[in-house]
Amino acid sequence: MSLFDIKDRCALVSGASSGLGRHFAHTLATHGARVAVAARREGQLLALEAEIGALGGRVLPARLDVTDRDSVAACVAAVERDFAPIDILVNNAGVAITKPISEQTEADWDTVIDTNLTGAWLLAREVIRRRLEDRRTCSIINVASILGLTATARVPAYCASKAALINLTRALTAEVARHGIRVNSLAPGYIETDLNREFLAGEAGQKLVRRIPARRFGVPEDLDGALLFLASDASRYVHGSVVTVDGGQTASL
Ligand code: NAI
Repeated sequence: MSLFDIKDRCALVSGASSGLGRHFAHTLATHGARVAVAARREGQLLALEAEIGALGGRVLPARLDVTDRDSVAACVAAVERDFAPIDILVNNAGVAITKPISEQTEADWDTVIDTNLTGAWLLAREVIRRRLEDRRTCSIINVASILGLTATARVPAYCASKAALINLTRALTAEVARHGIRVNSLAPGYIETDLNREFLAGEAGQKLVRRIPARRFGVPEDLDGALLFLASDASRYVHGSVVTVDGGQTASL
């Protein structure tokens, strides 16, 4: 068996309807995992199911709003009932609200913290409860950001949520590593997705790219190695870490 083997493992990816989550689902499925793709937009999930299914992958669409504790519990229960116990949880759902601080509302703050931090905590808690009960191991991958290690203007809640997610990762590790439950953070730098492609190609983006030692933005495929590493037994003694994939951006601050 290869070190990075994830064949037949059951993965759940939150926020899988677009961007990196969609890509993570593809990567895990094409490497043989059964993947529950979870998000609010069911239409997108059905399209993703058909797309990955056509490549021979096994996918289960699951409705999930990470800001709703009942939805989180129902989603995990449905995936474990219809698929298998979750071996790999990718806490990917996330939002950013970009505005100057004087224009940020409490609702903006709550939306970002509820999604990026509390949502990841709710999903992790649900999966951990089940793994402690059935004494199976699992790997939880919290998709943080280099903005959890450093910061930038006009996204205060986002920076705070990702920093807290990185420390939540460590706190959970301190408690559950002894049970074979691994919790790690994946911290991408600027990765081109549909959402930011226009911005990254513009003037501000071109200024930004000059501060990245690799002199380019990432593409989703640049995260595949780190994802498969954290998901598989290749990282079996890696607990509570932050794996940064950013073209050297944080190394050169
Ligand atoms: P995206 O906006 O395409 O994806 C976010 C996904 O989360 C969407 O599918 C959205 O529907 C889902 N989502 C949002 N709120 C949700 C909720 N309440 N319940 C369930 N799903 C919800 O953005 P992208 O870029 O793919 O981001 C994915 C993750 O990667 C996020 O956590 C983001 O913070 C992180 N990230 C992205 C970077 C980038 O450059 N694209 C860099 C660093 C981190």
